Amino acid sequence: MRIVLLGAPGAGKGTQAESLVKKLNLPHISTGDMFRAAIKNGTALGLEAKSYMDAGKLVPDELTVGIIKERISEPDCKEGFILDGFPRNVAQAEALEVMLAEQNAPLDAALNIDVPLEKIVTRLTGRRMCKDCGTIFHIAFNPPKEEGKCDACGGALYQRSDDTVETVTNRLNVYTEQTAPVIGFYAEKGLLRDVNGDQDIDKVMIAMGEALGQQWN
Ligand code: AP5
Ligand code: MG
Ligand code: ZN
Repeated sequence: MRIVLLGAPGAGKGTQAESLVKKLNLPHISTGDMFRAAIKNGTALGLEAKSYMDAGKLVPDELTVGIIKERISEPDCKEGFILDGFPRNVAQAEALEVMLAEQNAPLDAALNIDVPLEKIVTRLTGRRMCKDCGTIFHIAFNPPKEEGKCDACGGALYQRSDDTVETVTNRLNVYTEQTAPVIGFYAEKGLLRDVNGDQDIDKVMIAMGEALGQQWN
């Protein structure tokens, strides 16, 4: 199954992808995670991406489309994938369509995790991530068992450098201007499934299953 996860910053794309990976046994491909890994490793891609990410802007399409094209042609994507954070504008959605048409492997669904924008700042400023395995927590909504420590691997938790109030405001503007139109793009193709993201994490997961015609409760 080939799935795209849509939704504003903090809507829960990464959180839900963690469950989808287990349910569907497909690779999770997050452009944001790929850029963060490149920054950590000090690569040229990371150096270039960092200034855009810290400003809350989109990394240029030439870079982003290129890394996705390479990633989805790897063998583990043969049975499908879960794309998170890509496509993020209509040009990227069109580029993805061309790539998938070349492989004769169309998308099955675009799941749009819908959360009122006024809830986003609290979600993002309270987010904590594991520096070793990337598991996502929230200090109030999904706290780790032990403060500052990952439940999955014991790694230290950190706050993303773009989760400041100022950068979040920019990311939300970019979302409204450039990413929200992607919802209409997939609605026109009959691929869009709306999922209510403004409910408990477990309930969102059940709703995602329903949107994919599966029963997960
Ligand atoms: P990226 O890493 O993709 O960030 P984002 O889209 O802003 O989304 P987030 O990861 O912040 O949110 P999420 O939806 O994954 O939410 P999460 O599950 O963590 O991109 C970062 C940057 O990279 C971009 O700004 C851009 O610069 C660049 N970039 C990436 N892709 C690009 C592309 N295609 N083109 C160009 N540039 C690109 O949840 C958030 C918090 O809420 C967590 O604390 C979580 O515990 C909590 N939470 C989750 N679900 C719930 C719930 N149901 N109830 C309560 N709390 C919840
Ligand atoms: Mg994410
Ligand atoms: Zn961890």
